[in-house]
Amino acid sequence: MLSIHDTNALIRQRRSTFPAQYTGEKVDDAIIWQMLENANWAPTHGKTEPWRFVVLTNEKLPAFGDFQAEAYKQNTPVESFDEAKFEKLRQNPRKASHIIAIYMKRQESGKIPEIEEIEAVACAVQNMYLTATAYNVGAFWSTGGATYLPEGKTFLGLAENEKLLGFFYVGVIGKPSPDGVRKPIQEKVRW
Ligand SMILES: Cc1cc2nc3c(=O)[nH]c(=O)nc-3n(C[C@H](O)[C@H](O)[C@H](O)COP(=O)(O)O)c2cc1C
Repeated sequence: MLSIHDTNALIRQRRSTFPAQYTGEKVDDAIIWQMLENANWAPTHGKTEPWRFVVLTNEKLPAFGDFQAEAYKQNTPVESFDEAKFEKLRQNPRKASHIIAIYMKRQESGKIPEIEEIEAVACAVQNMYLTATAYNVGAFWSTGGATYLPEGKTFLGLAENEKLLGFFYVGVIGKPSPDGVRKPIQEKVRW
């Protein structure tokens, strides 16, 4: 059996680590595969296994940065366009080692409600987060950029019944995140 001590530590030490904190070095592809393998063990109602991923690395990272910055520009009225945001969208992917695009593939029958398929994918993402923590690799789930733009689906070649849910940035940690803070669980539970 796993020790509860180690389990608690893994869960509570998990932190989001952002591109500005990465060294720019590469994370071993074998670690990325471990993260994906563990994602595959998420719970799934009706055993639909709706999680799907596209791994972007090497020359795909600047291409993705340019794409999402341009998508932001095209979808933003000139008067609210923010040059700093445009540049951040362009540069952030260049700082990552890998970016794992996360999407949900709906079962053909649509029997399982969509929200449950999204919930299953979120569980898969948490498995990736925890695996990254165990390897002391930086990661965070981004729902920014082109996540909810039709261009995002086109860029990744997603079908009609597939829903883009964001991007999991991965990088070697240069500057660790501070310890996490949560309000007491007692405030969120009625017993
Ligand atoms: C569904 C989801 C979407 C998120 N999207 C973003 C995002 O777009 N940008 C961002 O900076 N952080 C995003 N995050 C990460 C949160 O900022 C992070 O989880 C939060 O600050 C708590 O920090 P921790 O993960 O270290 O506990 C997202 C997290 C989740 C669960």
